[in-house]
This record gives sequence, C-alpha cells and structure tokens, in this order.
Amino acid sequence: MEEKFKNISFLEYNSMDELPQPEKNLLQKAIEATTSSYAPYSNFNVGAAVRMGNGDIVTGSNQENAASPSGLCAERVALFYAHHKYPQQPVEAIAIAGSQNGKLTSELTYPCAACVQVMVESQKRGGTPIKIIVGSASKVQVIGSVESLLPFSFSNIPAE
Ligand code: THU
Repeated sequence: MEEKFKNISFLEYNSMDELPQPEKNLLQKAIEATTSSYAPYSNFNVGAAVRMGNGDIVTGSNQENAASPSGLCAERVALFYAHHKYPQQPVEAIAIAGSQNGKLTSELTYPCAACVQVMVESQKRGGTPIKIIVGSASKVQVIGSVESLLPFSFSNIPAE
C-alpha cells in the first residue's frame, strides 16, 4: 500500500483590478450576467462567462424552476450554449460570480460538482486546459485546469 497525493495550485488576487486584462474582462462579463438570472426561489444570482478559442464570449445565468431539479446553474447554461454556438471551438476559460440583492457576494462562488463534471467533458473536447476564474467582492482565484477542482472524474464508459 502506498499513500498518494494530488496537489492543486491556484492564483489568488486581492481584487479584480489585479487580474490580467483578459481575465478581468471575462469576470466583468460574468458579473453582468448575474443580472439576467432567474432565481425567485433561492434569491442567489449566478453569472458565468465562457471564452472560446476564437476569443468570443458566451454568457449564462442560473435559471430556476418551481419544479426545482428542472432549473439549471449559470455555468451549464453558458457552457451548453457555448458548445451549441461554437461546436468546433475549445473553451479557454470560464468566469463565475454570485450576487445577492444586486450586490456581488463577499464569498467566492465555486462551480457545483455537476457543473465541474460538465467542464471535464468541455476540457476533453477542446483538448486544452480550461481556466476557472471565481470572483467575489473581496478576492479572486484563478484555477489553471478542471482537474484541480475534480481530480478524479467520471469519464466515458469504456467499451466492452
Ligand atoms: N448555482 C449556480 O448557478 N451555479 C453554481 O455553481 C452553484 C449554484 C445556482 C443554482 C441555484 O439557482 C442557486 O445557485 C442556488 O443554489
């Protein structure tokens, strides 16, 4: 038996203003996307912005439903639409922000595990690491690839 480790590293910034311009711009788009969230049940508004290999940006926000499992997180709204619009383009980065009562949260909004599992597949499709930028009013983290959030992920069902 051997104990094994997987380490993750990420960059932490004290404010959005410290981010390199492309990341700052993407996070700004995610913050703007929170305003189109439909979240009458949780009152938690999430915005996501996805940058494709060709530089285009697709945004999404959480869309809730009275039959709660029918709603969808901001990240999956944005990613699925991004793949629909640009089926041949890799996803380069995704930025995520949460807001409550019109104010950016002071805590970071990390993607839920179901959204990360979708990112695993996006990354596999694109063949390049997806950068995950999570922002809040107080700090920002940039995570270099999806494996850092889900070191062991379900992948394609192996052929028999
Ligand atoms: N939500 C997201 O949009 N993204 C996440 O990664 C976590 C949660 C949404 C789902 C629901 O509409 C609300 O936030 C509260 O859970």
